[in-house]
Amino acid sequence: MPTIEQAQAWYPTQDPVHGFDHIVRVYHLAEHLARAEGADVQVVCAAALLHDAEGKTPPVSDESSPEERETNSKDAARQNHHHASAEFARRILEAEGWPSERVAAVEHCIRSHRFRHRLEAPQTLEAQVLFDADKLDAIGAIGVARAVAFAARKDLPAYAPPSELFLHTGHEEAGEPHSAYHEYLFKLVKLKDSLYTQTARRLAEDRHHRMAEFFSQLVAETDGKS
Ligand code: ADP
Ligand code: NI
Repeated sequence: MPTIEQAQAWYPTQDPVHGFDHIVRVYHLAEHLARAEGADVQVVCAAALLHDAEGKTPPVSDESSPEERETNSKDAARQNHHHASAEFARRILEAEGWPSERVAAVEHCIRSHRFRHRLEAPQTLEAQVLFDADKLDAIGAIGVARAVAFAARKDLPAYAPPSELFLHTGHEEAGEPHSAYHEYLFKLVKLKDSLYTQTARRLAEDRHHRMAEFFSQLVAETDGKS
């Protein structure tokens, strides 16, 4: 079983969105959910420690500038990170001598944990627990901090008024920035209803309301109404 100390080497320490502190929070949430729901704690905890570990980024061969290449390769790596992470997890667990069906159980958890790219739905209780733990860490106060940090890193604002088009389709008009508030409307607001386990759903209520309050206050202050 990989340890938290070992996992530290697999993640950046200075990344406010997907850094090591996200892994530690998801690990503790996932362990709590696994015990409460009667899931296999070892499979869940290994999956939590490995779920965003990429091992290495894919090679990039194009004519873009080094800066563009870095951004593109990071984006490409993130798009596919559940596959890269599942493969990385397999190598780590096989080297530890895990039996193949337990390695496969961890791989399934990792491949099915993404919200945006639902190619594979979480079919086991363990995969549902990892999904829920990862999503709980995207709402509440932490969720707000991560969404604002993500936007700031891309030079995008915390708030920009969403267009009618965005409100109806989730697609921005030309030139419309995808602010943290856009992310809230597009994804974060839906997360509590996407959760699988009762234990996570209960935890999500309070987190959801605090996050919703933050974003409605953000709109009110921007409008000069509060
Ligand atoms: P998932 O693994 O569920 O697809 P992501 O990697 O897309 O999740 O998102 C992880 C975290 O990064 C979440 O807290 C999310 O709010 C934040 N995030 C991702 N994309 C954006 C964005 N375009 N704007 C603001 N925050 C974002
Ligand atoms: Ni994650």
